[in-house]
Amino acid sequence: MRYSGRRVGSSRHPCPVDTIRTIAWMKEQARQARAESRIVGLVPTMGALHAGHLSLIERARRECSPVIASIFINPKQFGPNEDFSKYPRTFQSDSEKLRHAGVDALFAPEPSEIYPNGFSTYVNVDGLSDKLEGRSRPGHFRGVTTVVMKLLQIVQPNFAYFGRKDAQQSRLITQMARDLNLDTEIVVCPPVREPDGLALSSRNVYLNADERKAATVLYRALEAAKNELAAGVRDALQLQSSLRRKLDSERLARVDYAEVVDAETFEPVVRVNKPCLVLLAVFIGKTRLIDNFYIGPKSSSSEELVFHF
Ligand code: PAJ
Repeated sequence: MRYSGRRVGSSRHPCPVDTIRTIAWMKEQARQARAESRIVGLVPTMGALHAGHLSLIERARRECSPVIASIFINPKQFGPNEDFSKYPRTFQSDSEKLRHAGVDALFAPEPSEIYPNGFSTYVNVDGLSDKLEGRSRPGHFRGVTTVVMKLLQIVQPNFAYFGRKDAQQSRLITQMARDLNLDTEIVVCPPVREPDGLALSSRNVYLNADERKAATVLYRALEAAKNELAAGVRDALQLQSSLRRKLDSERLARVDYAEVVDAETFEPVVRVNKPCLVLLAVFIGKTRLIDNFYIGPKSSSSEELVFHF
């Protein structure tokens, strides 16, 4: 991908990776790459980048050139009482990380570029958007699918990369791409964790030292459930109550949900006899964390419990 001019930044504040601020320029650059028959990869993010984001970029770099990352803290996916205003904004260090990671371009539009006055079209995946995360965070997924649809429409990548750390989000985006006949293939990548098991998240910076220790309870609960499954337990209620017991044993934890659901429909299951997800949403102090593991026949990573039903 060639970038002729229109770079953002000055000699005092250089931008270490080619940064594209406008939709028109992003479209033009992506169009050129496609015209050269190149395989375009897109990694959408909200910044505050960590090794989880970088794992998506690594995967994209193995499969695509150019790789475009986006940073856009999407106001439409935050509820009125959520953390939009205090969401970590670390643009300079993010852009440095992206340069190190070998990203070819960074698309970082302003909110007014994405949502100009009069913007009024939304994308919603009915049903799936209302469950679990959607029940706890009304409107959240409508904001996510709308902005992801816009990003996919602007860049029209061959591949777009998402993390299964946000299992319901990646499921919804895959469904949206299927339903709307998008030409982009959605690639879902395994979660990256801290050495003690805590899934990396931009929101982990909100945790104080005690909360950070307590936050490992999500992983500990998931591991305990994995052990029960390995020992032959198939009853979803039994798994759920042991997840709850483990989570409730942590003083700083307050469970939002802990469920075993069908990996396709996200409906609760009675028995684990088909591909399932074990999903957790837990407040640690004021910080809401989510985590999960997949139980199914396809193994793409050590994160998954391989099952032949
Ligand atoms: P953000 O939270 O910045 O995450 C960007 C991508 O990184 C998502 O696909 C997410 O699932 C993935 N990710 C986050 N933590 C991860 C981890 N520990 N391991 C692997 N992948 C991880 O998710 C969003 O932004 C937004 O909703 C977005 C899709 C960009 C739309 O605004």
